[in-house]
Amino acid sequence: MSVRRAVVGDLEAVLAIEHAVFSDAWSADSFAPEFDDPYAWFSVYEMGEAIVGYVVARIVAGQAEIANIAVDPSAQRRGIGGHLLDAAIVAASSADCEAVWLEVRPSNPAAQCLYASRGFEVIGRRPGYYRLPVEDALVMRRDLSGAAPPASE
Ligand SMILES: CC(C)(COP(=O)(O)OP(=O)(O)OC[C@H]1O[C@@H](n2cnc3c(N)ncnc32)[C@H](O)[C@@H]1OP(=O)(O)O)[C@@H](O)C(=O)NCCC(=O)NCCS
Repeated sequence: MSVRRAVVGDLEAVLAIEHAVFSDAWSADSFAPEFDDPYAWFSVYEMGEAIVGYVVARIVAGQAEIANIAVDPSAQRRGIGGHLLDAAIVAASSADCEAVWLEVRPSNPAAQCLYASRGFEVIGRRPGYYRLPVEDALVMRRDLSGAAPPASE
């Protein structure tokens, strides 16, 4: 079991999870730039030979954003989402980021609980941010200044 950087060959497995968990799923074209973008931190969680989760973060100019995170429904509640998020936080911390930001649907308590368990706090709301269905976004922020990063593999 390990977190490693995503490669183009992972795309099919990533898309299968994406479409299983999101009504407004990213397309292959949405993921494609994340493989080579120097500001993207796109990693997958590998269990045996299977990809069971992934996280896409963007780390730019001292700020980090979690753009996407998901775990295959058959593998949820086993610590994988937390492991992926911790790894992204370590990457942001290593890049001297002051904070990590993300958006989450108010109707997604599982993700909100995951983020709260990692020290994220709700700091705002973006009206009508999401599509399919239209919904506001809660904006959450985890301060990295002065905090020891979480342990990661
Ligand atoms: C959110 C998601 C990534 C969590 O992944 P996961 O591997 O199941 O999460 P973990 O097992 O690491 O859980 C870590 C903590 O998050 C919280 N959590 C996760 N799922 C939860 C749920 N269904 N209900 C309540 N709390 C939950 C808990 O605090 C949990 O710690 P615990 O198991 O010790 O109680 C997963 O549910 C998922 O892929 N959801 C669909 C995609 C999605 O919503 N992505 C986020 C978009 S903003």
